[in-house]
Amino acid sequence: METLDALITRKSVRKYKKEQIKDAELEIILAAGGVAPIGMGDYASIHLTVIQNPEILERISSDVKAAAPGMKVDDPIFGAPTLIIVSSRPNERIPAIGGFNVSCIIQNMMIAATDIGVGSVFMLSTMMAFTDPLLVSKLKIPSGFKPLAAAAFGYSDEPAALKELKNTFETTYLR
Ligand SMILES: Cc1cc2nc3c(=O)[nH]c(=O)nc-3n(C[C@H](O)[C@H](O)[C@H](O)COP(=O)(O)O)c2cc1C
Repeated sequence: METLDALITRKSVRKYKKEQIKDAELEIILAAGGVAPIGMGDYASIHLTVIQNPEILERISSDVKAAAPGMKVDDPIFGAPTLIIVSSRPNERIPAIGGFNVSCIIQNMMIAATDIGVGSVFMLSTMMAFTDPLLVSKLKIPSGFKPLAAAAFGYSDEPAALKELKNTFETTYLR
């Protein structure tokens, strides 16, 4: 798939098939994340956690629901069989850098996933689960790293929707 086609084909998938994605697909998604731009080239400041364990996924889903009782969805991770958490070492000098890095990584992963026919959705809501000490201990995030965001992956069980390639933002041109 051409890059621009992947950009307009990607959409947030909120209904997944139960079938797990193939390991080869997961590796492509992780590798795409691994070539994302990272501030100051500090790739060692990032840690990825791939969760495919149904019990842990279920715990994350129920923790998010418990933390946000008003949430309308039954399953905040939409039955996705794979969740990738991106963690960062806090940077005292530039505190925002971790969030920027994580966003670049997740976007790369989601575009690569689209390219190979895997659905995805950025999952900031899962962060609400990470106040659960039992869950956090199960995630085995190395010390010094803080989970900042996650994305869910799986085969879409929704109709595809093609976007229009257009700038949706109010933009000032200074020429
Ligand atoms: C930083 C960020 C956090 C997001 N968190 C969630 C989330 O927790 N749950 C969810 O269902 N979608 C989440 N999304 C997906 C957005 O709602 C979605 O990208 C947006 O509505 C545009 O739709 P599209 O992705 O289908 O183009 C998030 C997106 C971003 C960029």
